[in-house]
Amino acid sequence: MTTLATTINGMRLPNPFVIGSGPPGTNANVICKAFDEGWGAVVCKTVSLDSSKVVNVQPRYGRLRSRTSDEIYGWENIELISDRDFGVWIDDFKRVKDRHPEGCLIASVMEEFNRDAWHEIVGRCEEAGVDGFELNLSCPHGLPERKMGSAMGENPEILREVCEWVMQVATRPVWAKLTPNVTKIEAPARAGLLAGCDGISAINTLRSVIGVDLETLRPEPTVEGYSTPGGYSSRAVMPIALRMCMEIASLIRDEFPSRTLSGIGGIETGADAAQFILLGCQSVQVCTGVMKLGYRSVQPMIDELLAFMERHSFQTIDDFRGHSLQYFTSHSDLVHRQAAARAARRGESNRAQVVEADTDWDGNHFVDQSDALARG
Ligand SMILES: Cc1cc2nc3c(=O)[nH]c(=O)nc-3n(C[C@H](O)[C@H](O)[C@H](O)COP(=O)(O)O)c2cc1C
Repeated sequence: MTTLATTINGMRLPNPFVIGSGPPGTNANVICKAFDEGWGAVVCKTVSLDSSKVVNVQPRYGRLRSRTSDEIYGWENIELISDRDFGVWIDDFKRVKDRHPEGCLIASVMEEFNRDAWHEIVGRCEEAGVDGFELNLSCPHGLPERKMGSAMGENPEILREVCEWVMQVATRPVWAKLTPNVTKIEAPARAGLLAGCDGISAINTLRSVIGVDLETLRPEPTVEGYSTPGGYSSRAVMPIALRMCMEIASLIRDEFPSRTLSGIGGIETGADAAQFILLGCQSVQVCTGVMKLGYRSVQPMIDELLAFMERHSFQTIDDFRGHSLQYFTSHSDLVHRQAAARAARRGESNRAQVVEADTDWDGNHFVDQSDALARG
């Protein structure tokens, strides 16, 4: 029988759909709501020991819509980590585990570059009963001004040291959540895995400026006339997330085969999830998608992923996880393969408007030629 149930680093999930850290996991009520609606696990909004320095502004979101429909495809936020008191969070973790002992609750944690602080936050969350950890080494706005979040994740040496501190004390699975705002994602991924983390989560948001208001001439989101770069998410980031997950999954396959990857970035459908799993992810996280579509969106995602699996006769997630990684190769190999395929097809008529070489571009058929190159 086809099943979405999966075990990741020893944590048993009814399905691979995980609430990503952010507003959808920001207190016990909404976390319980997520479990009630059937989400496979929840990563809470990032918590820290001292929330008194966390002060949010409004507005703090900016959105990009399609020019031809009302659909939102890009979302920027300048939201900080949770502004709720750590003691209140500890009570929330206990309440959630009381109501949903079977629910997989992952604590997203962030601290300063201080070993004792990381030891304390991990120890106290474990006492409250959380099932695992996600280390927020990746939020790109606000906290990096205090050398936290992506200020750590952009530096593989610092990231490795912090992960090592956590691994000294954690007795539950630990995922390091990476920032995409780096040139090569393998470097922080390798650092986290060398430190002993059980898995990687990727990606957090891309540093961005969502736009400038053409009436007021002020950048958005505009707070008292000013703005600051934020983090970009939603559908527009999915191709970047897929590429980074592909690179991290290849690294895990080749050098750290017992570790796991949780894919994040623009996921809203079962088809999106299937693509992340085909590229090597054990689970997928959804944050902005829940803000756009609500908690109930998990059921159509489940149905669509199951339908995909049944179409291909895959019975479990592991039956197709990582399957598509084998089809990545170098560009020069693509050239060789295409030359061989064309030689085999010689004699077939050439389609009109095909661009074989740059000299074939024709100013009168430019759009058609571009289209033909996308279709192959
Ligand atoms: C409003 C908002 C708040 C977020 N807060 C956090 C956070 O506290 N901790 C964290 O690790 N990631 C946070 N994220 C990042 C998401 O967890 C996720 O990595 C990113 O948005 C990409 O996934 P998505 O396209 O599904 O949203 C936040 C994202 C948004 C949109």
